[in-house]
Amino acid sequence: MFIESPRYTERLGSVRLNHVQSVIALDSGLKNQLPPHSAMGVVKIDEETIKHYEDRMAIVIPVKDEKLKLFEGVVSGVPQDCLVIVVSNSQREKVDRFRMEGDALDQLCRFTLRQALIVHQKDPAIARAAMDADYNDLLDEDGLVRDGKSEAMIIGLLMAKAAGKEYVGFVDADNYFPGAVLEYVRNYAAGFSLAQSRYSMVRILWQYKPKISGILYLRKWGRISEVTNKYLNSLISTKTGFETEVVRTSNAGEHAMSMQLAEILPFASGYAGEPQELVSMFENFGGILPTKDIKVMEQGIDIFQIETRNPHLHEEKGNEHLNEMLLSSLSTIYHSPLCDEELKQAILAELIGQGILKKGEEPPPVYINAPLKKGKVLQLVEAIQSDFDKYHVLH
Ligand code: GDP
Ligand code: CO
Repeated sequence: MFIESPRYTERLGSVRLNHVQSVIALDSGLKNQLPPHSAMGVVKIDEETIKHYEDRMAIVIPVKDEKLKLFEGVVSGVPQDCLVIVVSNSQREKVDRFRMEGDALDQLCRFTLRQALIVHQKDPAIARAAMDADYNDLLDEDGLVRDGKSEAMIIGLLMAKAAGKEYVGFVDADNYFPGAVLEYVRNYAAGFSLAQSRYSMVRILWQYKPKISGILYLRKWGRISEVTNKYLNSLISTKTGFETEVVRTSNAGEHAMSMQLAEILPFASGYAGEPQELVSMFENFGGILPTKDIKVMEQGIDIFQIETRNPHLHEEKGNEHLNEMLLSSLSTIYHSPLCDEELKQAILAELIGQGILKKGEEPPPVYINAPLKKGKVLQLVEAIQSDFDKYHVLH
């Protein structure tokens, strides 16, 4: 594929946050030679490079009661060399949706002879392993893994580590276009190939997010991400003294990271996960608050934001869902030690203006799962490995 070369990089301590890079063309051919890219501002990522990273990557698909057809489409869009890991929190009573997902996955994998893992978020074996490894953050009062997409991401990360993968990408199960899924993963690979550090992250920005209201309208921005981006950029500006618009992917559900980075990141519960990743990187490695992790400081962290060619169309889950998402997203900024009083007031005004909070209320702090490194990760991974057959679709 052809992609814009990273044109400008904001540096915050050891975090290198690259401005958005657009995909120029989805394919770059086998023979096509490119003029020196410094001249054109375009990088060619050849097919071999993309395959190199896909082979080292697991794609985690969190799913909760999505339409089966959508789920199947998503799986069919994941490149063959990636390991598919499905983490489901779908219902099991009456209609066993988890079973249906497993059957669909099994069938697709048989046709294409591919490997895949599927696990239910409430599988007691996972909860027991977490407890044994002192990683209780993940658990609810009833002793099972908590609800939430972030919690599913953590299970996915652990399974990817157990399978020996070096990179993990996330793709939502409610995507309508399998072709878009294919592009997300190729973009992940492209981003990783540009990274200098072993700690790297790729976040997807959509060229268009269509809205159907009588006619098909190709909207440029999601409502939530627009607002979250604004305040995350303000957070950076208040620290550097320079206004910036660098952050464009604060709520990117579609994103990927190297295993090394994943292990040191905290994951906020529910829908606050994606913005919290950025806030945490600024806090821990942004050079403002003290850091303990010298290795990371030395290597730095590379973050890429890649704008897709495909539009993004997923299930619309209603206004209440969006409000909840905005509240928890802004809460990650509001409760950060980096957030000064002025920015806090601006966030409160925004939430009150949107009718999400009342005067005098504060956004409730989000629940944060400690980084995996804090628990006995290896023990957890070993426990999962010992049960590995159970999770494989093809025995
Ligand atoms: P949005 O796209 O950010 O508005 O959020 P969605 O509601 O579409 O959720 C993103 C993805 O996470 C979808 O594939 C959901 O099915 C999935 N998901 C949401 N909540 C959970 C959960 O508690 N557990 C799991 N395993 N997946 C979830
Ligand atoms: Co969605």
